[in-house]
Amino acid sequence: MGIESSCDETGVGIVRLHGDGAVELLADEVASSVEQHARFGGVVPEVASRAHLEAMVPTATRAFETAGLTLSDVDAIAVTAGPGLAGALLVGVAAAKAYATALDVPLYGVNHLAGHIAVDTLQHGPLPAPCLALLVSGGHTQLLRVDDIASSITELGSTVDDAAGEAYDKVARVLDLPYPGGPPIDRAAADGDPTAIAFPRGMTGPRDARYDFSFSGLKTAVARWVEGAQRRGETVPVADVAASFQEAVADVLTRKAIRAAGDAGIGTLVISGGVAANSRLSTLAAQRCAEAGIELRVPRPRLCTDNGAMIAALGAHLVAAGAAPSTLDMSANPALPV
Ligand code: KG4
Ligand code: ZN
Repeated sequence: MGIESSCDETGVGIVRLHGDGAVELLADEVASSVEQHARFGGVVPEVASRAHLEAMVPTATRAFETAGLTLSDVDAIAVTAGPGLAGALLVGVAAAKAYATALDVPLYGVNHLAGHIAVDTLQHGPLPAPCLALLVSGGHTQLLRVDDIASSITELGSTVDDAAGEAYDKVARVLDLPYPGGPPIDRAAADGDPTAIAFPRGMTGPRDARYDFSFSGLKTAVARWVEGAQRRGETVPVADVAASFQEAVADVLTRKAIRAAGDAGIGTLVISGGVAANSRLSTLAAQRCAEAGIELRVPRPRLCTDNGAMIAALGAHLVAAGAAPSTLDMSANPALPV
């Protein structure tokens, strides 16, 4: 059983660990509070915590119904210990401790970022070692080297300011598109020209860190461009702005991921997190990976966004690896490093 509550999704997943190490998905139930945050243009921590409290037990109940199992079938529980919103994480951790105590099963406090990578094994099987992971969501943008999903993940680079999804959400606001901004920008971009506006590619200069990202300059450039058009009384070409912005994001993300894989001689790239659902990112990544001879793995969108199955999958890998469970005095760590 895996429990996720680091942001605005309450997730409960159930997986089965097979003797050969394969991990099978049995249930993946998610309750989202995203609509309650929409009018604020971003996640409100207190609202998210309250929503987790209300959704946790009903979500777990649905997961067991879907799997055709009962609580007494659980052998181990994994819960997101961090990183994430403190109050939100605490709801999941408290629930996991309660279930683990009541059922007398081991409890594993796990890393949310590792979960985003582990989830791919539910769809594509065991991960080759090493592999490279590009994690792109509303909260994180990171390049990670994975030598062992259960014990060895190294951060190669990360964003120095906004996360990629955050940039999508902020640009959507500038374009009067709804929150979360990724899906409406993706749709608007389909009718636009990605070469219409040459938006900046952050941190791609010769003296910039090789694997770090920056999206706040891009976001500001889009806002300035739109303001300029409005000042001149012109109609903002939303589709062209969306397509050009999306091209800049996808270009930088794939360029740096391919560079990191090439430098380290790594042959597999996993892209996960909410932004992995972006159509241009997956197309460009597929094209550039094919050119570079790199195998690309992108879990289906449902698995890419926050869910409990990713935490259950990671927990199963920890059980398979013989990792020591957490003690009951474990706590949430909002800044948990990978
Ligand atoms: O992983 P996720 O569900 O939650 C966390 O932030 O952990 O990611 C949500 C982010 C949002 O910023 C949303 O705008 C973005 O993923 N997103 C997309 C797309 N679908 C969701 N960004 C670009 N294109 C999409 N199709
Ligand atoms: Zn996430």
